[in-house]
Amino acid sequence: MLKDKDYIGLSLELNLFFGRIMKEHLIFMAISMPIINSKYILEADTLKESFEKLLEEVLSLSKGLISKEALESNELVTKYTLDAEKQVEDLFGICINKKLTEFTHNLPGEKGEPIYNLEGYVYDLNDRIFNLLMEVIEFKEKVHQEVLNCKLATFLYPEMLEHIIEEAKFYLKLLVSIQERAEDDKDILSKEIFWNHVMKDHALFTRGLLDPSEEDLIKAAHEFAKTFEELLEKTKEADKDKACEVSRENLKATEKVKDFNSTATKGILSCEIKGLVNPLLADHLLRETNRYIRLLKDFIKTCK
Ligand SMILES: [Fe+2]
Ligand SMILES: [Fe+2]
Repeated sequence: MLKDKDYIGLSLELNLFFGRIMKEHLIFMAISMPIINSKYILEADTLKESFEKLLEEVLSLSKGLISKEALESNELVTKYTLDAEKQVEDLFGICINKKLTEFTHNLPGEKGEPIYNLEGYVYDLNDRIFNLLMEVIEFKEKVHQEVLNCKLATFLYPEMLEHIIEEAKFYLKLLVSIQERAEDDKDILSKEIFWNHVMKDHALFTRGLLDPSEEDLIKAAHEFAKTFEELLEKTKEADKDKACEVSRENLKATEKVKDFNSTATKGILSCEIKGLVNPLLADHLLRETNRYIRLLKDFIKTCK
């Protein structure tokens, strides 16, 4: 059973990371559909705005309550996020609440002071996020189904739609478990299976969205996809005794992906890398990678 302090801190951290991820999925959906789908574009935009409002609320509670590890992991924002948002706004004409990003950058870290009477508010906030998340999942699934039936056109791969549905469901699961005040699930390998799968997908998307002239990067992305396919299998087959060994291997590969994602985000932002990856998507992949790295490092700390 989670203590009040942990319940509050972990809830806020989870929502700061995944709330932003969710609103960005909706941005990617909105900017990837042709105008004939204006009804869907509007729906994505409205859901995105709802997430921004809840994220604002999460942020207003987070001052002094977020762990140093989370703030320093670059999973909430990176040095590229704000510029990436500005560029996506300018290029695609979608509105992005950039104050949330500035606020996140300036968030003061944990002070270790006691927290009074916040559990009720956080419980209610988590509950409202849960409801919105259900709506978002339903929307993503509807779009995915329409795409599979060739009833709707979008420039997102069906696999990417599936990927963003899986990430939303993963968030939902974590949110439910936090609301039940369940202690962190110690089954690290099942989390690593999820994240290795995510890393493999990212490499495949990147490979497919780069300009054909970017041969070296395409090759690198292809290699990452292969590496994570292998690591995924290895992690699935591993038993608890092998968890430390496998986690170290996963960390090594994920650190390399992080460097690749970081270079890609910088190159796309400065218009040096050609392709169909927008800078916010590149930064989004980088943040997800950073989150996985923190999870792995946290676990490895407990290994002999
Ligand atoms: Fe994502
Ligand atoms: Fe992802």
